[in-house]
Amino acid sequence: MDPIVATPISESSNITDFVITNRNGVKGLSEMGLKTLPKQYIQPVEERITVSNILPQESIPIIDMSNWDEQKVSESICDAAEKWGFFQIINHGVPIEVLENVKDATHRFFNLPAEEKRKFSKENSPSNSVRFGTSFSPEAEKALEWKDYLSMFYVSEEEAYALWPSACKDQVLEYMRGSEPVIQRLLEALMKRINVKEIDETKKSLLMGSKRINLNYYPICPNPELTVGIGRHSDVSTLTILLQDDIGGLYVRGNNDSWVHVPPISGSLVINVGDALQIMSNGRYKSIEHRVVANGSKNRISVPIFVNPRPDDMIGPFPEVLAGGEEALYKQVLYSNYVRHFFKKAHDGKKTIEFAKI
Ligand code: OGA
Ligand code: NI
Repeated sequence: MDPIVATPISESSNITDFVITNRNGVKGLSEMGLKTLPKQYIQPVEERITVSNILPQESIPIIDMSNWDEQKVSESICDAAEKWGFFQIINHGVPIEVLENVKDATHRFFNLPAEEKRKFSKENSPSNSVRFGTSFSPEAEKALEWKDYLSMFYVSEEEAYALWPSACKDQVLEYMRGSEPVIQRLLEALMKRINVKEIDETKKSLLMGSKRINLNYYPICPNPELTVGIGRHSDVSTLTILLQDDIGGLYVRGNNDSWVHVPPISGSLVINVGDALQIMSNGRYKSIEHRVVANGSKNRISVPIFVNPRPDDMIGPFPEVLAGGEEALYKQVLYSNYVRHFFKKAHDGKKTIEFAKI
């Protein structure tokens, strides 16, 4: 056998320069055909995903939304949000074609030459609300995550049109528009159960006043068992609507110390509760830890829409939830401070929510 000759790129400082500073992303690294995982990506043993802590017989609920106005559909949504914090929906009304187009657009963006993608990196992007990056918070992380992303904070369509990459903006906008009624139906059902009878303008801002859409790209990884696509975290959203392709690899924290796979179902959307909704519902709905494995043979994509409060909203348990005398578990916090706290550190499971605990 030939000896393995180290190429210059596998010298450790060059990796960080190549991937992060020079914005080639981990996709650029993957395409060089590395035989072994650079050490920056090696996760501590306890963060790696192994078969020993996966529960294959468990699965999160799958909810058919064809008759979404029926009581029993609302009930299964609320039950799933209370018990699991995660579920999949089918027959949700977003056309298959819209879903396929946004997946194609994601591949189109990541297949652009590095210099095109670099136009949306932190230093070059025309706006703070559009960001091409890699890993999660590379400055704060001890081990990097095997993922690139394009993240877009959404205020208005005009702004999106002006700032988003033309390789994907039409399809992404169509997907965002298409998912709007689904988001509203889910939130209406969830609010009824916690005595919020009407979603007025204030509540609308708190529940869905801003959105962030990410195009996630998990390139083929030489040693997937040593790293992660995304480490353990909960989302800071009220709700997250996630479109995944047919590859799989998302795991959700189940009972005990186990992890449950979220199998790809054609045409479905994965829904999960985020920290903001856990706080507003005073813990009734739970944001659940989840993570993504790296894949040794396929490039995986996913497209989450994080439905969020507005950055300048104060969030805390809703008065309707506390009306019966329940003690507040969380204080009022400025949402932008909460989000800043999340991004300031590496992914660390459910720890972000401590920030809001009384
Ligand atoms: C996220 C996330 C899961 C996935 O982007 O916050 O959890 O399957 N993504 O990509
Ligand atoms: Ni997430």
